[in-house]
Amino acid sequence: MSKLSTEHLLGIKYISTEDVETILSTAKTFKEVINRPIKKVPSLREVTVANLFFENSTRTRLSFELAEKRLSADVVNFSASGSSVSKGETLTDTVNNILAMKVDMVVMRHPNPGAAVFLARALKKYPKSAHARIINAGDGTHEHPTQALLDAFSLQQQFGSLKGLNVLIVGDIVHSRVALSNIYCLKKLGANVKLCGPPTLMPKYIETLGVEVEYDLRKALEWCDAANVLRIQLERQDIKYFPSLREYSLLYGVNDEILDSLKKQITILHPGPINRGVEITGSVADGNHSLILEQVENGVAVRMAVLYLLAGVPNA
Ligand code: CP
Repeated sequence: MSKLSTEHLLGIKYISTEDVETILSTAKTFKEVINRPIKKVPSLREVTVANLFFENSTRTRLSFELAEKRLSADVVNFSASGSSVSKGETLTDTVNNILAMKVDMVVMRHPNPGAAVFLARALKKYPKSAHARIINAGDGTHEHPTQALLDAFSLQQQFGSLKGLNVLIVGDIVHSRVALSNIYCLKKLGANVKLCGPPTLMPKYIETLGVEVEYDLRKALEWCDAANVLRIQLERQDIKYFPSLREYSLLYGVNDEILDSLKKQITILHPGPINRGVEITGSVADGNHSLILEQVENGVAVRMAVLYLLAGVPNA
């Protein structure tokens, strides 16, 4: 029985504001746990989790595995490379076979948008797999819900509340699952959201989500309290969206020069991996106003909260 009003975490779009708030307040407890000398609790002792990564990952994969181990779950890891996917096995067959080994929860990263929603629907048809909880660890250009939750948690820790906070998301918006999940999450928590990036990297109907668009980076930075800087996702671009990385960096790169010229200090976030010298300079990423490594630390606590709440185990 999930302790949230949802069985799965497929995207921030599909969960209530109350569920977002429950996850963030539970993450606070788990952040205390992971800062103790003994970082492990027995909460998911009876639970087995499979981490299925059909696309590369460093932070999300390790962070989920650590979160599961800190909660005392049994963990199995699957990467598409080296698996029977190369022999043509479908996603549903792959997951049904893993679940037949008595797995309770599936954390899945997949290159195709909608893969997590598809899987949750497909498994309903199989009585032996219908019990499984699905957590979307990033599906193509669609959503990356735990990234948005950890970003919101990091902002909450920094600013106390997100109500009325001005948050800028800058960069490759059109290819970014982080942008979409952040927009849903920030809006649910009462933040004001503005987007900035080249017009070619801005989805046409994005303003229907209740966000503003500003194409001038200086004006956008002047407006915000915090800026979430996104990577140019060259792996998702089969055509050219801007003349060169150098020109992108000149117009949309966040560097000391532009930040020092503002009338205020702003907080910097980045989901990683960073293209140093493209969307952000090394000195900004490593600087005093950067929350980047806080985000990574908070990712473990937030993922512990998601796993614990979805598993719905009676004892904490
Ligand atoms: N932020 C993020 O999703 O990073 P990884 O791709 O390394 O998991």
